Amino acid sequence: MNKKVALVSGASSGIGTAVACTLADHGYRIMAAGRDAGRTEELREYSPNIETWIGDIGSAEACTELTGHCIQKLGRLDLLVNNAGIYFPANAENTNDEIWTSTIAVNLSAVFYLSREAIPHLRETRGVILNIASDWGLAGGKDAVAYCASKGGVVMMTKAMALDHAHEGIRINAVCPGDVETPMLYEEGVARGLDADEALRQAAEMSPTGRVTSASEVAALVLYLASDAAAQINGAAIPIDGGNTA
Ligand SMILES: NC(=O)c1ccc[n+]([C@@H]2O[C@H](COP(=O)([O-])OP(=O)(O)OC[C@H]3O[C@@H](n4cnc5c(N)ncnc54)[C@H](O)[C@@H]3O)[C@@H](O)[C@H]2O)c1
Repeated sequence: MNKKVALVSGASSGIGTAVACTLADHGYRIMAAGRDAGRTEELREYSPNIETWIGDIGSAEACTELTGHCIQKLGRLDLLVNNAGIYFPANAENTNDEIWTSTIAVNLSAVFYLSREAIPHLRETRGVILNIASDWGLAGGKDAVAYCASKGGVVMMTKAMALDHAHEGIRINAVCPGDVETPMLYEEGVARGLDADEALRQAAEMSPTGRVTSASEVAALVLYLASDAAAQINGAAIPIDGGNTA
């Protein structure tokens, strides 16, 4: 019961899976929240340190339920990783109400609701919130109006909340990946009429380092930022993008 507990949203694929597994490898007990029941439950086979919650986090009620489930099952909370996210390529004219509302609900409102629920528990453990934002929360991107609005909101919410809760020993930071090799990158490529290999090749070509970031590299940054070694990093939005935002 003394082991640290991390709640990871969007754990059923991509960065979320890498984060949940990396944290479990390093001794955390995990509440892995995912929409996809099959893939989320598979995480239990990876480690006995992983518990699961299956559901859609697109409402305040769901975020309350998820946090309550984490505390009930694992007894404490030391780290909240707000990772779940969605992206629909669209400019303002093509962004219908459904794209706008769902993007803001998952990428921004759920980050707020889960953080609000987590804070009383993190106050007790002097814990950490890590928001997986995006380099498109730091600079604009083409055909990404709702996504950029949501991720820019996450970056500023991170900074505002970090100032509010630093004196309570809670640290809050944002991780801002560029292109990461996950289903989201491939799905974006498919939406642009590319196959997966071509989507990856084009993304790599745009990066100063000539390659995209791996999910495990993002997970390693999360592990570091959650650790006491990062005790003086607070309210930061840290790119991990091969230098794209430079
Ligand atoms: N892949 C990239 O290039 C990239 C770049 C920058 C930022 N990001 C961010 O990283 C995070 C993880 O994305 P990824 O690349 O692993 O993509 P992904 O599509 O593989 O994973 C996204 C996860 O979020 C979950 N999710 C989405 N909507 C949900 C909902 N309503 N309720 C519950 N879960 C929901 C999905 O089920 C999935 O597990 C996202 O916030 C994304 O915006 C990704």
